Amino acid sequence: MKTLTITRPDDWHLHVRNGAILKTVLPHTARQFARAIIMPNLKPPVTTVSQALAYREEILNALPVGVTFTPLMTLYLTASTPISEIKKAADAEHVYAFKLYPAGATTNSDSGVADIEAIYPLLTALEEQDIPLLIHGEVPDQACDIFDRERVFIEASLSKIVNNFPNLRIVLEHVTTIEAVQFVNASGNNIAATITPQHLLYNRNAILAGGIRPHYYCLPILKRERHRLALLEAATSGNPKFFLGTDSAPHLTTLKETTCGCAGCYSAHAALELYATAFETANALDKLEGFASFFGADFYRLPRNTETVTLTRSTWTIPSTYGDPENIITPVNAGEELHWQLQ
Ligand code: NCD
Ligand code: ZN
Repeated sequence: MKTLTITRPDDWHLHVRNGAILKTVLPHTARQFARAIIMPNLKPPVTTVSQALAYREEILNALPVGVTFTPLMTLYLTASTPISEIKKAADAEHVYAFKLYPAGATTNSDSGVADIEAIYPLLTALEEQDIPLLIHGEVPDQACDIFDRERVFIEASLSKIVNNFPNLRIVLEHVTTIEAVQFVNASGNNIAATITPQHLLYNRNAILAGGIRPHYYCLPILKRERHRLALLEAATSGNPKFFLGTDSAPHLTTLKETTCGCAGCYSAHAALELYATAFETANALDKLEGFASFFGADFYRLPRNTETVTLTRSTWTIPSTYGDPENIITPVNAGEELHWQLQ
């Protein structure tokens, strides 16, 4: 039987929510990943160190007995974040980054930043304190075509941020385009990117061809095939600027299968298996460990994990749903076969 053993990976971009959904989704992540960067876009958002520490406790309390998993907390950057909170975060043991959502760009981003240049003093503070800034890189402009929003953000905002704050450590989250890959490649070592499993495996046909499939709808939206190929090349290149971030974003099935469905793909149920599937298509399984287990830890200046996980080449079918009857979640590629399974 074919197996693949790698250092236990980490997930550098994850939504686990709170309350009942947290209890359903957290075990899926914790069985694979040692650590995860936890997104702060709760309702209300996690904007202070004390809220982040309370959220961290809630996550730790939701872990199944005997499972080791470390949540790495982030704060939601707003126009009214005080500089003092940035200093506090720099000194806080469990806070690792700030997240910048352009206001209105994605799920729970209403408290995000409407005018990025107006928060430059906050970016100065992040640069001085050497705290990574994680960016949802899309313009929220309703007049901009949804498939162009990442490219336009890079041209209009990100390039200015990078020029004005040359030492700011930035992760361009869940990149989806050739332009993003080129931008990250052309930038200094302080600029990195996460890549999701769905953007490595699927193009926009998965959402729209032969019927509308809401469980493949996330933001930034899946793009054309040539973009997927550029992402696959970046992920499997061995370039440490690109690392694993699932952006697993659970929503109740009822809120996705409706007139106006939420953005977010749930992938935590099989994240590592999905990445292995993508890497195998590129004949690059030997590159999975760096992408999944080394490069993110190096960027965040955390020790690499020492334990290992093993994937086996065996076929299984992804369940159609997860969760209890009141909290049903439909995973990405529900009902499909996968040919890698975590032991
Ligand atoms: C995320 C969510 O549901 O919180 N949705 C998504 O489509 N990716 C938010 C985000 O990361 O953009
Ligand atoms: Zn996300």
